[in-house]
Amino acid sequence: MDALHVYDAPPEGVAEDWTMAQDWERFTALDHVRWSKMVTEQTEALQGLASDEFLKGVSDIGLDTGGVPEFDAFNVNFRKLTGWEVVAVPGVIPNLPFFKLLADRRFPAANFLRQGGSQEYNDEPDMFHDVYGHLPMFIDPDFREFMSAYGRAGLRAEKLGMTDWLGRLYLHTVEFGLIEQNGALRAYGAGLLSSYAETIHALTSDKARRLHFNLPRLMRTEWPFDTFQPTYFVIESFEALLEEMETTSLREVYEEVHDLPLIPIGETDLADRVYGAQSA
Ligand SMILES: [Fe+2]
Repeated sequence: MDALHVYDAPPEGVAEDWTMAQDWERFTALDHVRWSKMVTEQTEALQGLASDEFLKGVSDIGLDTGGVPEFDAFNVNFRKLTGWEVVAVPGVIPNLPFFKLLADRRFPAANFLRQGGSQEYNDEPDMFHDVYGHLPMFIDPDFREFMSAYGRAGLRAEKLGMTDWLGRLYLHTVEFGLIEQNGALRAYGAGLLSSYAETIHALTSDKARRLHFNLPRLMRTEWPFDTFQPTYFVIESFEALLEEMETTSLREVYEEVHDLPLIPIGETDLADRVYGAQSA
């Protein structure tokens, strides 16, 4: 698999803060049809699998109204509902500008569209992943507060040299997180919601391990970037997730985890609390 195209410096046409014009006019009629088809099919497929907030968010923010959204127009309603805006970037951007954008309540979305459908493994975050997978969750006030708190924590983690540890928090929540709602397991992570196949794997496969959220454990959990995750973390609520971010001293957690070994992909730890196990 190709490595993600991570840029070292803003390429031509990209501003200092890594944002760029969306250049919406270049999308063809076929792109718009393809986008609408992906949104419709994915939203139908995710009924009963995605968190309530996600499904509500898709229609509230207007993703189901057809065609690739033009960010300027899309942001009018999105800003009103969430206080955030989406901005175009060339792809995966470096940590520092990423954290800054989140801290400023601007969510970066890749400025290109995947060529295949939405059902397979999502190997490079494209506009469908970034817009459809991420933005609906911003209708939840606790979730979006968590996102800006994460951005601010990222700026501090840069100075402490702890971005890899913090990055695993993002990965195991914002990208691949599960939540218990009304007694059932649901997906809220964008890496899941933009890939139907991985959503099914995460929620139902007996090969997937599901653990209760535990910040130090999660920061130590290595993950594969080219296949389905073997380990997922289940939160109780978005309020609880935000509370973790606001009341925990991340500096203390970093001190705790810094000298501990990482937990290799798919491996267990003695302290694991398995979701659904009797002692939970
Ligand atoms: Fe993502």
